[in-house]
Parts: sequence; structure tokens; C-alpha cells
Amino acid sequence: MNTLLNRRQWLKTAGLTVAATAFAPRLLAQAPVTAPRRIPVGPGLVRLNYNENPFGPAPSAKAAMRTAIDPSFRYADAEEQALLELIAAREGCRPSQIVMGAGSGEILDVAGFHFGLEKGEIVAAHPSYMALLNAADRVGGKAVRIPLNARLEHDLPAMAAAVGPRTTLIYIVNPNNPTGTVCDAAELKQFVRGQSERTTVFIDEAYLQMTDNFAERTCAPLAIEGRNVVVARTFSKLYGMAGLRLGYAVMPEKLAVSLKARMTGSLSLVTIAAATASLNDAAYVTTARARLKAGRDALVAEVRKLGCEYAVPQGNFVFFKTGMPVTDFIAKMRAAGVEVGRPFPPMLDWARISIGLPEEMELCHRAIRQVLA
Ligand SMILES: Cc1ncc(COP(=O)(O)O)c(C=O)c1O
Repeated sequence: MNTLLNRRQWLKTAGLTVAATAFAPRLLAQAPVTAPRRIPVGPGLVRLNYNENPFGPAPSAKAAMRTAIDPSFRYADAEEQALLELIAAREGCRPSQIVMGAGSGEILDVAGFHFGLEKGEIVAAHPSYMALLNAADRVGGKAVRIPLNARLEHDLPAMAAAVGPRTTLIYIVNPNNPTGTVCDAAELKQFVRGQSERTTVFIDEAYLQMTDNFAERTCAPLAIEGRNVVVARTFSKLYGMAGLRLGYAVMPEKLAVSLKARMTGSLSLVTIAAATASLNDAAYVTTARARLKAGRDALVAEVRKLGCEYAVPQGNFVFFKTGMPVTDFIAKMRAAGVEVGRPFPPMLDWARISIGLPEEMELCHRAIRQVLA
């Protein structure tokens, strides 16, 4: 009944006349089958639910975007190639080893389709980031979900044990979302070296540039030296460019050719300008990292003071045990003016809160104290 009502409303909003409803079945068959990736946040709420970086983009990136507006009537192929070469130089690899996309989310989708086809099995942590697994599911792929260990980190030995003849990919999110935990650097590298002999290992490093010891932790060198490894990065997080949509992944050339064949878009000139400026703005990166870390440390101190169990975080968010159903916590925080992360099954009494601006965090801390009192 409800669904019917929604469909009617949808037809109405689409500007269709009453007579047109006669064609509804055909129209409905064309309606999107998947839910929107993100649900819009209500007006007036402090938005601490999508792990965005409210400090960014860098002033240099904003200036570059303004300059890019005038020539934006042109296609940006040359600029896209120049950005590809800059990224390759920064990563220390060939441009042919890089795939760029509209956010790393597009690359996760394409990888999910690629490795999920033919009923491929993808070994991943639980809970973890779902985009790649959801894409695989849409083409018949199967997720093999391995619970996190007691520290809420990826259980690498259990993941290795789950690799079998149908495994097409291992997906590691480092730092993990929603927990924010990182894998031990040496253990992860040993795992990746060993498992990439058996299957492809995909490491999603969306938040890794926020950690203090990025160089020690990144697995990109393993992809660059030709192993069966993919490392994905995004400009959405540390660089504060979530709405500009740019991410990339480093991988073996042959796989890059296969994934590029499944991509459909090209990049925006304005986004390319912002990314190029950001990559050349080392000072901003240092500042952004320090600001996010300060917010993260303060939030950890707050939940500790309240006696909550929490996962040791390295990203721009904190995951902690609320002592109540998370749906209640979400509703109470919303009533106090703060939108926090969605529920993450099976940890349904834990909440994820992203780091916002200092004034937003002040409100958030007050709200947490009030809700958990
Ligand atoms: C672990 C992880 N990977 C990838 C993404 C996708 O980000 P984007 O598509 O903005 O690059 C997100 C977004 O929240 C994420 O948490």
C-alpha cells in the first residue's frame, strides 16, 4: 500500500498527468532498482554522518577552481592527461598503472562488477565499507564476510583462511570504515605479498593519508612493483573534495586496461584544477591532517570520559559503543541537532561520528553528554 502511494507520488513529482498513469507499469520498470547511495540530511542539522572533511578544499584549490571556470566550455582531455601524469609521478609509477574515476566510489563499483562477475567470491571484513560488495552483488558476485577481530581490526589470518578456488578478490579497507582501525603495517604487507600470489588484493586507502605514518602503511609500492594488488585513494577525504568527485587507484597495467574498459565517464575541468592545486599544496595537507586529528583525539577523550568502549581510530571519525540501540542514539542526537552515521550491522549498539568544524564538535560533544547521561 505504502509502496503504491510512493509510486503515485513519484509519478506526480515527475510531472505526469493522471492519464499518463495508464503507462505506469512500463515507466516503473525503468525506475532505478537500487537505493540512493546517501540519504540527504535534514536542514539545520550538523552533518557528522558521511566522513566528509569540512575544512577543505584548500584555499589554493578554490583559487584554481575559480580560474578553471572561464575555460570550462572545453573538454578537459589534455588536463586529465596532465593530472594522470602528476599522480603517477607522485606515486612513482607509470600513468598506465593508474585508473581515475568520479570519486574512488566509481572505481569500487567497477571493481565490484569486474570481480563479482561469474559468481566470483570477494573476501571482505564485517563490518566494513560496502560499495564494492554491493556492486559485485548486482552482477551475481558473492561476499564472504569475515568478522573483525577483538580490536575491531581486519582479522587477516581468518581472511586468508577464507580464500578458496572461487575467490576473485580480497577487499581490505585500511583504515576500516566504520571502525577507523588500521592493520598492523608489517602484518598487512606480509599478508598482501602472500595472498596476491593466490588472488587479487584490493586495499581501499580512502582515509590512510590522515594517519601519521602513511608512508610506512601504504601498500601502493606493492601494486607498483607488479604484484596482483590494487590501492585506491580519494580526494574526498583529506583533500576535502567529496562534492567534486575524484579518486584513483594504482594497479598492474593489465588490470588497469580491463577496469578502464568498464568506466563510462570523464573528469570535470574544475575538479582537475582543484586536485592539481591540492597535490601541490603540501602545507594544506599537513594542516588538514592536524585539524582532523585534533578533532578525533578530542572526541575519543569525550567518549572515554563517558566510559564508552571505542575502536582506536585513524580516520576522520570515531566508532564507539553507545549502550543503547543505535537507532535510538541516532534519533536522540538528531533531536539535539546532530546527524551521526547510520547503523552498521551487526554492531547495532555502536555509533560512528565524523569529525566536523570545532564549533560543530562543541555542539556534538554537548549532545553526546546529554544523550548518554
Ligand atoms: C572506505 C571508503 N572508501 C571509499 C569511499 C568513497 O569515497 P569517494 O567516492 O568520495 O572517493 C568512502 C566514502 O565514504 C569510504 O568510506
